[in-house]
Amino acid sequence: MFIHKITDSIDYVGVNDRTTELFEGLWPLPYGISYNSYIVKGSEKIALIDTVELGHTREFMESLRLQGIDKIDYLIINHMEPDHSGGIPLVVTAFPDIKIVGNKKTIDMIKGFYHLMNDYLYVEVAENQTIDLGNISLKFIMTPMLHWPETMMTYCEEEKLIFTGDAFGCYGALNGGVVDDSMECSLYINEMYRYYSNIVAKYGKFVLSALKKLSSVEIEYLCPTHGPVWHSRLAEVLEITRRLASYEGEDGVTIIYGSMYGNTAEMAELFAISLSRRGIKNIRVHNASKSSLSEMLADALRYKGLIIGSPTYNTEIYPPVSHLVSAIRARDMKNKIVASFGGYTWAPGATKKIADNLEAMNFQDAGSVIMKQSLTEEVENNISEVAEKFCALFNS
Ligand code: FEO
Repeated sequence: MFIHKITDSIDYVGVNDRTTELFEGLWPLPYGISYNSYIVKGSEKIALIDTVELGHTREFMESLRLQGIDKIDYLIINHMEPDHSGGIPLVVTAFPDIKIVGNKKTIDMIKGFYHLMNDYLYVEVAENQTIDLGNISLKFIMTPMLHWPETMMTYCEEEKLIFTGDAFGCYGALNGGVVDDSMECSLYINEMYRYYSNIVAKYGKFVLSALKKLSSVEIEYLCPTHGPVWHSRLAEVLEITRRLASYEGEDGVTIIYGSMYGNTAEMAELFAISLSRRGIKNIRVHNASKSSLSEMLADALRYKGLIIGSPTYNTEIYPPVSHLVSAIRARDMKNKIVASFGGYTWAPGATKKIADNLEAMNFQDAGSVIMKQSLTEEVENNISEVAEKFCALFNS
């Protein structure tokens, strides 16, 4: 039997999902995803940290059986979203003497989702309470709204290791290894931007509060519920998370456009060329009808420049662009330098609606370019002018 050891006392018992197409029914999983669970073996007691998604409980229970585990004292629930809590009923059935450990909100949610109503099942914990496993202990740190209200983390001081729920997680199934020391991690780092922007981005201020709490404890391992355990790249992962949570954009510009017949697309190309000629090197262009919302959000959040274009469609913003704009607003993105553009045939409207949305978010606006029907020299000049102003703001 192969055991994924993280430290002397802690083993990985998560599972891979390589079949689900869309996480939460929304977000593409080209490289799959892992649902991470961990076993903490103290000298006197054993704790299981989180479970897995319902459809993967067979492998999960098999993994516990193969480890020869016939008794678990505590099931710690750091996060109740069903991709982690789906295995709770099965674990309770398999280990009838187990106690479920969570905060008040967690316990209410377990009762609501899984109808496990007997109070004797539960140990309710609050900030900084601990559970003793013998030679090691687990301390609970409340980190609400990462990205649900009940979310908490579980810290093992003796191993300098923390179980973080979705925080520091990423898409991507694990390909043999579990700890980053033994893996090439560039795929997971890229997928972390996509995961964070899709799932967590609205809650930046809560992420920053959690990071502040974590700064007061000694940590060598971050054990999230998705993706690798972070050890050698821990500092880098903390820094990426801090930057994203602060809405601190990296050097780069995302251009996102919609286009039915190629006219607004020509404007997007001209914007990209105008920025490139003014020295901007990192430019990501997305056709909103082709790129996934997931990828577009990742780039929109990651980079400090954002330019959005759309033709007018039924007097509104073209639907895939409209979806993107509302997803950006829903995430409360901040600190962007922006511009907008778009074409129309007989009724202008989309560009102004994009600009109004960007203005409502208090971004620094370099201006808009509106084009009637097709590209003209005047439109080209207007794009050049807005690009000039955009670059001045970008480089200031
Ligand atoms: Fe991975 Fe919020 O669940």
